[in-house]
Amino acid sequence: MSKAKKSRVLSGVQPTGDVHLGNYLGAFSSWVQAQDTTESLFCIVDLHALTVEIDPGELRSNTIEMAKYLLACGLDPEKCAIFVQSQVPEHTYLTWLLECTATMGELNRMTQFKDKGRGNDSVKVGLFTYPVLMAADILAYNADLVPVGEDQKQHLELARNIAIRFNSRYGETFVVPDPLIPKVGARVMDLQTPTSKMSKSTSSPQGILYLSDTPEQIDKKVRRAVTDNDAEVFYDPHNKPGVSNLLELLGCATGENVDELATKYTSYGPLKADTAEALTELLRPVQARIKELSDNESYVLEVLERGRVRASELARATVDRASQAVGLLPAKTIQGIGGH
Ligand code: TRP
Repeated sequence: MSKAKKSRVLSGVQPTGDVHLGNYLGAFSSWVQAQDTTESLFCIVDLHALTVEIDPGELRSNTIEMAKYLLACGLDPEKCAIFVQSQVPEHTYLTWLLECTATMGELNRMTQFKDKGRGNDSVKVGLFTYPVLMAADILAYNADLVPVGEDQKQHLELARNIAIRFNSRYGETFVVPDPLIPKVGARVMDLQTPTSKMSKSTSSPQGILYLSDTPEQIDKKVRRAVTDNDAEVFYDPHNKPGVSNLLELLGCATGENVDELATKYTSYGPLKADTAEALTELLRPVQARIKELSDNESYVLEVLERGRVRASELARATVDRASQAVGLLPAKTIQGIGGH
């Protein structure tokens, strides 16, 4: 009996320096789960990081740092490929083919660009075409499933539409990807503004729990987390966003159900104390692993090299097919001419 083909998963993360709990519980934990049952590829999208002003030295160190965090959070290079986007030039090549498939109208409708760049003449062209590069990341691997947060769903929808249009114009070339809604993990909200997602670009430093935070920092931030003043503990993200966020964090850290957890508390103090302690315990092994990896950076580079080799092999095949489908000549048209 032939075994059913595993579905292929691809996701990406920008190389930001300070990795936070939203990255871990909202994204990486579902990636860790995916690597056991699917063929998974995870990409550190350094080219996407160039769409906004960034110091070259910082970009370099953030890229390595992100690789360490992915490993420390549980990605296993025996089970998945971890690689750096710019090291697989097929992504940028395919972006051009897809830019000649996507329309201005489509990109104009992207809400992330509207929020960040619309109407600003000094905004980079790359920020506008960002979603096409993201589509290339996905389509180059013929990914079936793409784990993404709510904020990236519109970009994934664009990737689907580009794939469908390309296939109908030039013949079946790309797999049309589906979003993967994580079964594990949480929507981690800002501790100070619990109605918005914990995110480096929008949160205040007090609202974000970094994976590198000390137990004292965690304790301080959790104790100062915004709640409300009716002093009752129950899970209701709409009416009690702050308390619900704490319950969700505690639930994620302990593996317990949020509604059951809520019944154990009658005031906010103990809920905050237990949440801070559980998060400290959750981060302890991650921080220990980061330290080990920092002492062994050549291992991290080896992992990225293995990832690059695997990713290049897959992307090359798809990009060759796409390139010939649109009518470009193969790189080598006649064997033996000009060869040494
Ligand atoms: N744009 C995504 C983000 O900011 C990151 C990303 C780039 C991505 N390429 C991707 C996510 C491909 C999924 C698949 O979160």
